Amino acid sequence: MSFSLTGFVRSARSAAADARPVAAVKTLMSQVFADPKAIARAAGSFIGPDECLYEDDGVSIYSVRFAPHELVPPHNHRIHAFLGVYEGTEVNLLYKQLTAGQLKLAKRRVLNPGDTMTIGSDGIHAVHTEHAMPSLGLHIYLGRLSTVSRELFDVETGRSMPFTDDNYQMLVRALP
Ligand SMILES: [Fe+2]
Repeated sequence: MSFSLTGFVRSARSAAADARPVAAVKTLMSQVFADPKAIARAAGSFIGPDECLYEDDGVSIYSVRFAPHELVPPHNHRIHAFLGVYEGTEVNLLYKQLTAGQLKLAKRRVLNPGDTMTIGSDGIHAVHTEHAMPSLGLHIYLGRLSTVSRELFDVETGRSMPFTDDNYQMLVRALP
């Protein structure tokens, strides 16, 4: 199967505009990530830091790179998120928020090349890679991610705070 970034963006936009966007985007992601090597081959030019490939009020499409030895702090998106990995291994820690505010680890999902995952609009996750390699993926969000008021969470206290660069830097943790 061949893969092109422009084709992916076009398909993601049309899936997000479907009458049942969650199901349509989920199907698209599993079809596209059935051949992660094809994405990796085409990816040469977009494996820099996170890059927004397209965004409008209905959909955001990102090329994402998670660095090794780093724990991305728990955060929400407030809109549906669809994650796919085409290189490296990405560990997703999915949290539930208890009534008192604290976070409880609910599930640990390891995504290897070809794996995809959907996070609902109330989902909270933290991410790290496995081994010393970055993980590379493509994400689709059902909305304009850059304008959503999202939150970051302090995993020790459960305290939530606005998703800003400063708060992110304060909460990001180095991993061995
Ligand atoms: Fe996320």
